[in-house]
Amino acid sequence: MPSVTYLYHSRLGSNFVCLKFIGHSLCVDSTNRVVRHLSNCIGNPFNVSARKFSNYKETPEALSARKLSETKEKPLHIPVMKEEVLENAGLNNESVFLDMTFGAGGHTQSILDKYSSSKAYCLDRDPVAYQMACDLQTKYPERVVPLLGKFSELPGLLKEQDARQNYFDAILFDFGCSSMQFDEGGRGFSVSKNGPLDMRMDGNRHPQNPTAADVLATADEHDLYKIFKVYGEEKKARKIARAVVEARYLFTPLQTTRELADLISSVLVNETRTDKLDRHTHVATKIFQALRIFVNNELNEINYGLLLAQRYLRIGGRLITICFHSLEDLIVKRHITGNMTDNEINMLPLQYVDNSRWHDRQSIDEFTSSHWQPLLKHVLVPSDYEVESNPRSRSAKIRAAVRVS
Ligand SMILES: C[S@@+](CC[C@H](N)C(=O)[O-])C[C@H]1O[C@@H](n2cnc3c(N)ncnc32)[C@H](O)[C@@H]1O
Repeated sequence: MPSVTYLYHSRLGSNFVCLKFIGHSLCVDSTNRVVRHLSNCIGNPFNVSARKFSNYKETPEALSARKLSETKEKPLHIPVMKEEVLENAGLNNESVFLDMTFGAGGHTQSILDKYSSSKAYCLDRDPVAYQMACDLQTKYPERVVPLLGKFSELPGLLKEQDARQNYFDAILFDFGCSSMQFDEGGRGFSVSKNGPLDMRMDGNRHPQNPTAADVLATADEHDLYKIFKVYGEEKKARKIARAVVEARYLFTPLQTTRELADLISSVLVNETRTDKLDRHTHVATKIFQALRIFVNNELNEINYGLLLAQRYLRIGGRLITICFHSLEDLIVKRHITGNMTDNEINMLPLQYVDNSRWHDRQSIDEFTSSHWQPLLKHVLVPSDYEVESNPRSRSAKIRAAVRVS
């Protein structure tokens, strides 16, 4: 069984918190250093065979066809703050744009419609989203380039397309899961829809990668506590981790989203929780978020994705990010405003760095410099009207920046 080492890493007077699975080494921290190890790490970290759920027998094409037929009733995913994205992307009719999180393509489509000869490269790690990008390509021939992969796989994918560094006029990240992923019980992301505890955004692209069920069945209590605490910011993380481990011995391992949600409800029996809109939320919501972030190595991906954005945007090109929780937003903020060391974000704001330490000029310049100039004085948030018509937009925050070096 791998153990988790929690590294409280103090460097140049700032602290950086990271989690690392050693031994079988599934590494989770916010550094591209770790991403470089990803090919070893991500193999089969828990040394368990991945469960194959029957829901995943559907081919991407079949899934896409089913999804498209559902579109007629309601949109698959409503793009968040579409107007604000368009306003800040600084595009024109000739622009080349990279959508790092294509999803159902709402943002991309609005750009293609607004700028008549613009071209969009559309990346997503989810085969269902990739299929939708292929469908969009038939609607806009020569103007859409679908790419299947994670942020960390982008360099290889762009090389195949002959897209060079300093190539794009704007890059968009709309982080997190799409409604298509949340709303499909079979994907295992939703606390309210029953299905296998899968949560892999890649679907079955890498069948050997651990699912949420694998994590819950094999990680030890301390590992689970750290995952729930750091990625879910869950106050009762210790109690829930203990319950998950006890459940393994008392019952069969947790297999479905309902089993996990029920277990957490039984642990937090007197708790009620509400969201930003004061609506009742399930007490297991934060645990689901934590598992999803862990299973998909999301924070590493974001950190590395932003380093890649700087490499592939032209100087003067624009970065637009839409974040939905503070863990994502902190990474973006540190990249844009400059509080990084060795390509890792520092967790503490600069005003709390240890002033008693001596640093040479070069180190100070390194961790306070940034390749970005913020475009907005404050983050943009959705209007009340948007939140009312699309409650999923309620926590969205847009940041925009220009690449200056
Ligand atoms: C919020 S949705 C994007 C929705 C999209 N903007 C639209 O208008 O339909 C986020 C998408 O990003 C994808 N995604 C998340 N992390 C990714 C990563 N590291 N690499 C590639 N795609 C990722 C997810 O699979 C999901 O489809």
